[in-house]
Amino acid sequence: MRRGSMVLLLLLLFSSLEVSLSQTAPQYSRDDFPSDFVFGAGTSAYQVEGAAAEDGRSPCIWDTFAHAGKMPDKSTADVASDGYHKYKEDVKLMTDTGLEAYKFSISWSRLLPNGRGAVNPKGLEFYNNLINELIKHGIQPHVTLYHLDLPQVLEDEYGGWLSPKIVDDFTAYADVCFREFGDRVSHWTTIIEPNIMAIGGYDNGMFPPNRCSYPFGINCTAGNSSVEPYTVAHHALLAHASVVTLYRTKYQAMQNGWIGLNVYSLWAYPFTNSTADVQAAQRSLDFMIGWIINPLVFGDYPEVMKENAGSRLPSFNKHQSKQVKGSFDFIGLNHYFSTFVIDNSNSSSTGLRDFNADMFAKFTESKNMTPTGQFVPVNAPTDPQGLQYMLEYLKEAYGNPPIYIQENGYGLGIFNDTINDTARIDFLSGFIGSTLDAVRNGSDVRGYFVWSFLDVFELLAGYWSRFGLYHVDFDDEKRERVPKLSAFWYSDFLKKKQDMSIERTGLNATSHAQQ
Ligand SMILES: *[C@@H]1O[C@H](CO)[C@@H](O)[C@H](O)[C@H]1NC(C)=O
Ligand SMILES: *[C@@H]1O[C@H](CO)[C@@H](O)[C@H](O)[C@H]1NC(C)=O
Ligand SMILES: *[C@@H]1O[C@H](CO)[C@@H](O)[C@H](O)[C@H]1NC(C)=O
Ligand SMILES: *[C@@H]1O[C@H](CO)[C@@H](O)[C@H](O)[C@H]1NC(C)=O
Ligand SMILES: *[C@@H]1O[C@H](CO)[C@@H](O)[C@H](O)[C@H]1NC(C)=O
Ligand SMILES: *[C@@H]1O[C@H](CO)[C@@H](O)[C@H](O)[C@H]1NC(C)=O
Ligand SMILES: *[C@@H]1O[C@H](CO)[C@@H](O)[C@H](O)[C@H]1NC(C)=O
Ligand SMILES: *[C@@H]1O[C@H](CO)[C@@H](O)[C@H](O)[C@H]1NC(C)=O
Repeated sequence: MRRGSMVLLLLLLFSSLEVSLSQTAPQYSRDDFPSDFVFGAGTSAYQVEGAAAEDGRSPCIWDTFAHAGKMPDKSTADVASDGYHKYKEDVKLMTDTGLEAYKFSISWSRLLPNGRGAVNPKGLEFYNNLINELIKHGIQPHVTLYHLDLPQVLEDEYGGWLSPKIVDDFTAYADVCFREFGDRVSHWTTIIEPNIMAIGGYDNGMFPPNRCSYPFGINCTAGNSSVEPYTVAHHALLAHASVVTLYRTKYQAMQNGWIGLNVYSLWAYPFTNSTADVQAAQRSLDFMIGWIINPLVFGDYPEVMKENAGSRLPSFNKHQSKQVKGSFDFIGLNHYFSTFVIDNSNSSSTGLRDFNADMFAKFTESKNMTPTGQFVPVNAPTDPQGLQYMLEYLKEAYGNPPIYIQENGYGLGIFNDTINDTARIDFLSGFIGSTLDAVRNGSDVRGYFVWSFLDVFELLAGYWSRFGLYHVDFDDEKRERVPKLSAFWYSDFLKKKQDMSIERTGLNATSHAQQ
């Protein structure tokens, strides 16, 4: 059977599928969330757009990394999901699905191919078209300025985030975005996962610019794992704060948007109840989360980071501290999994140290949670409760800041991800349910976004892992989108068709599929 007709058949089959739900499980619906709570799904520029060398876009550091064959599947995002050409079709799918918001990012090197200065008119046109298309269909644009895709030209010129020069260039880029798009953008996120950007790019080298030093990380030709992650995160915080100052002084009163920063979040359980493990779990939260959120809320890094990293951790001067403190209207979380934490202080107190050694803690896969996709190089146990603990922790430790869960989703290896993705439905219904539990207990969560709206180039595993609500066949040049069962499930939830089960959902496909 030709691929095209296969897809058509699946479409026919699944467009009449219905999800029937267990009657015994606890139920919730869209209406249980506050009416201004927003549900959406997301992608990012490099991961979805393709058109890598088209219409004046210059390479970003991910192009360089992927073209050097650094992805586990040796892939690139030259075409990716072809979102650049298919944005209208995608917005139509979003509308059909009932998305209330779409989270996407702007490609810095598409808008400003030289990293600064001249604006690329084709880039401007593309993002204007996309935003207008979303607005036309009543979908809120939640826009990220930086999703780990630095223009290569700035990496080459001065080492990108390693240099304080990044602050002015990032601010100038943001200025263009606010000026050109800000009249229609309700939510701006400055930087995605600055903690992962620092660790992945500069400690273990798994992300571009692929820097690390012995004995940390793999296959880097340059770097300093002891120092650079801290430097980079520091510059990210300063750049973020500078952009927020700009937005607040020049745009916010007129444009009425919100601006915030994102952090990669993972919940940490102590492996045992020993004092050492309990303290290690707290340290891991301070290092992973507090690294970014303490400066935003309190104007400084956590004490334990200052003690353990010493002079390798940069410090904020008075002016910087004041600018960083309070520089958010919301905090975004990218939350996928929980982990157990074992104290590691004995083995880390001497010798060379990196972020992990400074944290004196070892993450380990949980004892009773099942990992997801085979090809996702992180173990990702499914633990909705962990998100609830995290939201509770943010409420207690940081004064209940407004939160958007900006990424949450279920990755499966290519051979295990099918159109009938019931495991993804279980995952999403569990995490949306635990979000509701947190909201009911007073957490100020304002929104939830599924990662990802459709299958995209994944930063850890290229096309070997899939998170999409919509399937994309990357071997087919047409890159047809086919809804997975999770797309129908999410759509039914958003359209308030029925209550959603927090526990495992069952399917009732047979009767309709025969027709
Ligand atoms: C490191 O590079 C070598 C040579 O290119 C390669 O064989 C090896 O698989 C790489 N190691 C990892 C962990 O990527
Ligand atoms: C990393 O930088 C620190 C501080 O400048 C220095 O002491 C250390 O030797 C450097 N390590 C490497 C691997 O270059
Ligand atoms: C730690 O103590 C709590 C409360 O007593 C208990 O629920 C939990 O199972 C214990 N955890 C471990 C790993 O022993
Ligand atoms: C660390 O070392 C101390 C002293 O040698 C020992 O008492 C303690 O049990 C060790 N802790 C761990 C987690 O190995
Ligand atoms: C698919 O999932 C099954 C069960 O979860 C697992 O045993 C298997 O290794 C997975 N296969 C691939 C290719 O990911
Ligand atoms: C989808 O998967 C569920 C659970 O594994 C199974 O019960 C159902 O029959 C499958 N439906 C189709 C159409 O394959
Ligand atoms: C609910 O909130 C209260 C007050 O903030 C807190 O003490 C309690 O632990 C929370 N309960 C749960 C289940 O998170
Ligand atoms: C499936 O749907 C059919 C037709 O709507 C219904 O008669 C049947 O009872 C359903 N089966 C289950 C297990 O819900």
